[in-house]
Amino acid sequence: MPVTVIVGAQWGDEGKGKVVDLLGEQADVVVRYQGGNNAGHTIENERGKFALHLVPSGICSPGTVAVIGNGVIIDPTALREEIDDLESRGISTANLKISGNAHLIMPYHILFDKVTETALGSKKIGTTRRGIGPAYADKASRVGIRVQDLLDPKIFHQKVQAAMKSKADILRLVYDQNVAGLEEECDRYLQMAETLRPYIADTSLILWQAVREGKRILYEGAQGTMLDIDHGTYPFVTSSNPVGGFASVGSGIGPTAIDEVWGICKAYTTRVGEGPFPTELLDDDGRTLRDRGHEYGTTTGRERRCGWLDLVALRYAVRVNGMTGLVITKLDVLNTFDEIKVCTAYRCNGEICTEMPPHQSTFHHATPVYETLPGWKTDIGGVRRLEDLPAQARDYLEFISDKAEVPLALVSVGPRREETIRIR
Ligand code: IMP
Repeated sequence: MPVTVIVGAQWGDEGKGKVVDLLGEQADVVVRYQGGNNAGHTIENERGKFALHLVPSGICSPGTVAVIGNGVIIDPTALREEIDDLESRGISTANLKISGNAHLIMPYHILFDKVTETALGSKKIGTTRRGIGPAYADKASRVGIRVQDLLDPKIFHQKVQAAMKSKADILRLVYDQNVAGLEEECDRYLQMAETLRPYIADTSLILWQAVREGKRILYEGAQGTMLDIDHGTYPFVTSSNPVGGFASVGSGIGPTAIDEVWGICKAYTTRVGEGPFPTELLDDDGRTLRDRGHEYGTTTGRERRCGWLDLVALRYAVRVNGMTGLVITKLDVLNTFDEIKVCTAYRCNGEICTEMPPHQSTFHHATPVYETLPGWKTDIGGVRRLEDLPAQARDYLEFISDKAEVPLALVSVGPRREETIRIR
């Protein structure tokens, strides 16, 4: 594992946190490269259960450097709370390094996220309302505020004032919002500047040196391929690029440094928020998946939509990420099913398609074509070797790996680190 990227192969919540925590034990550096505190990684280890939103999961492994790269957007209040929580529970954050080029989620971004979602009504995206979209929009419009601006109060004020000028009018006149005190709220960020200063570093250089020294670097993608703003189910996506290729852009090292891209995929599918989901189950099977898989959001607590595994989407994720290994998580959630369905193709406008439809209007009307495999009806939580799994479970895994054309790397059979079958 010299330089490995961990990406979500579905719509997020695939269990990336556990995998990163597990591999983070051997990593010298763990890096977040996109997204913000819309992510929620639950990791469970001997020190307890941690719900991380911004800080890379590798922070729990002593000695590992945890990097928040330039492609991430940061809500300083959320970051401060997370750092304080970790420290109070005995996890040192001394090795946390934050890029000065990362953009800040400002109070007005959060407000915009809320009012625009409300205004969209039934056409809403179903965002986490953390200000993600508006913050990335300002970054692209070149009116964003960056982490390094916190270190220069004069520049910070100038930039906030410039950004607020039109935003206050829009919030007041278009969305009927009371904007009194919003600028003061922005100023409060400066009070956190000194406590964040020790963490701010030239993360691109740190990574470059780590690459040259042959250190093991693990990239921790947030969200998932199908939520990617370019390659996901636009417009029902997040506003960043979770795909593996962005690890390079979002951290400041060239793509030639990356050796492996591992995709994380649940043994079934979930999605939060709105948008198309061909294999969604609204019946008892869907409820069983939600209950057995505890499918409620770590960040928002929302119920996740659940469905059978979608191999068309997984094959697509293998392609757009250049995936070199596949991790199947939550296989144990399927323990109680007599039969398990897997979507191997879609029916689109009367035709069978085995590749992801490139146009949204086709995909939105795609219906799944299923193959049915026998369940194993036994508890596999204690299994640690592939050969000790029931034959039906091994067949299920082999079926996925064959159809998706990617070798298996790990299989997770429970939330704890040790509940893992290591293949590579
Ligand atoms: P945003 O990222 O808050 O703008 O939300 C855009 C879409 O991405 C919504 O459908 C969210 O539910 C979804 N989303 C954002 N972060 C996550 C995540 O970590 N897991 C799953 N879905 C997410």
